[in-house]
Amino acid sequence: MSGPPLRVAVLGAGVVGREVIRAFLERPEALRTADGAPLELVGVAVRDVQQAAEGGIPAHLLTDAPAHLVAAQATDIVVELMGGEEPARTILSAALGAGKSVVSANKLVLARHGAALEDAARRNGAFLRFEAAVGGGTPVLSPLAEGLGSDRLTRIRGIVNGTTNLLLTDMAERGTAYTDALRRAKRAGYAEADPASDVEGHDAAYKLVILARLGFGVWLDPDRVPRTGARADGEPGPAGILGVSPEDLAAATEAGLAIRLIARAELVRGGRIAAAVVPAAVPSGSAFGRTVGVGNRVEVEAAPIGRVAFEGPGAGGASTSSAILADLRAIARHAGSTWAGLAPARASADVAAFPAPRAGHLDAPSGARYPILD
Ligand SMILES: NC(=O)c1ccc[n+]([C@@H]2O[C@H](COP(=O)([O-])OP(=O)(O)OC[C@H]3O[C@@H](n4cnc5c(N)ncnc54)[C@H](OP(=O)(O)O)[C@@H]3O)[C@@H](O)[C@H]2O)c1
Repeated sequence: MSGPPLRVAVLGAGVVGREVIRAFLERPEALRTADGAPLELVGVAVRDVQQAAEGGIPAHLLTDAPAHLVAAQATDIVVELMGGEEPARTILSAALGAGKSVVSANKLVLARHGAALEDAARRNGAFLRFEAAVGGGTPVLSPLAEGLGSDRLTRIRGIVNGTTNLLLTDMAERGTAYTDALRRAKRAGYAEADPASDVEGHDAAYKLVILARLGFGVWLDPDRVPRTGARADGEPGPAGILGVSPEDLAAATEAGLAIRLIARAELVRGGRIAAAVVPAAVPSGSAFGRTVGVGNRVEVEAAPIGRVAFEGPGAGGASTSSAILADLRAIARHAGSTWAGLAPARASADVAAFPAPRAGHLDAPSGARYPILD
């Protein structure tokens, strides 16, 4: 290892944060690289200091003032694991503005404010890394930006929200209603008390915006990414998976198909990007059809390489911490931001519609019309 230690502040000690802190305390070798600077944990910001200390975080590291911790001279790198829009956004731009590198898993802030944050990072020579924002611990973003950096991407498709995938597969297997499946998922800790962000497709739309930034070089506006399915009568359906009925799932199974919430972005005519997060029918035997429960899968089509896929756990504290540690190691090695050597991205409010699917549609009993994706 080389150079003086880089001093790391972790903001938030919840499901993911506590696993990152545990790695620093219990397996520091996981943070060590052969050719990078050492990494040292110097502070942890939480809302309830006493509770965090009782949970085993050394008291001398704790503060309830994240903005102060970020501004402190003794902080070189900020790991943001608080979630939510504010104060996360303000704190992240302050860190980058001060030239401090940032690791964040916050897909909401990245999708909504990515263009401004990227600009701040580039202007101040700071690194911004966010591998955990898509696919949890499964590496997707760095491989896209680095491994496929010389390819021309034409299509991204993914099951990027484990909660909705669990609900859809549970409903299909048991033939039960959405409300029953949701109750079971909540009991098992796989759905939030307020599941709206997952089931209405917001979470998947944020992830798609981040994928599209790396794949297509634009920061799309997440509010312009359609999240409502179509109906055979031409009316829009409900958002996300809310219109998928057990009867629809049974009809799909009968036809050799499975319904999945697919986040997709594609290069279409005129160099525009089509994007949507809507339920779609996929062949039951396809890789997407076989992706069940909380699993995530992202497929990209690119030239000259062809189709490449990434699959793994999309959530969970321990698995997601692996992406955070990977980003920290990359910063220690001075490896740059998640967008690596890609050109600066522009913000774009333009989202094109998809052409009609080659394989047609499944018109389901509820009146929903699902595009069939091959
Ligand atoms: N969980 C996953 O599997 C997963 C996977 C990928 C990405 N992510 C992303 O990772 C981030 C963290 O998720 P998480 O599941 O770890 O959330 P979480 O369990 O709710 O943890 C967030 C922590 O941040 C603390 N916090 C919130 N606002 C704060 C503030 N203003 N000052 C100090 N502390 C504050 C919370 O304290 P209180 O408990 O007092 O509110 C909580 O301990 C989110 O952006 C999420 O989208 C999570």
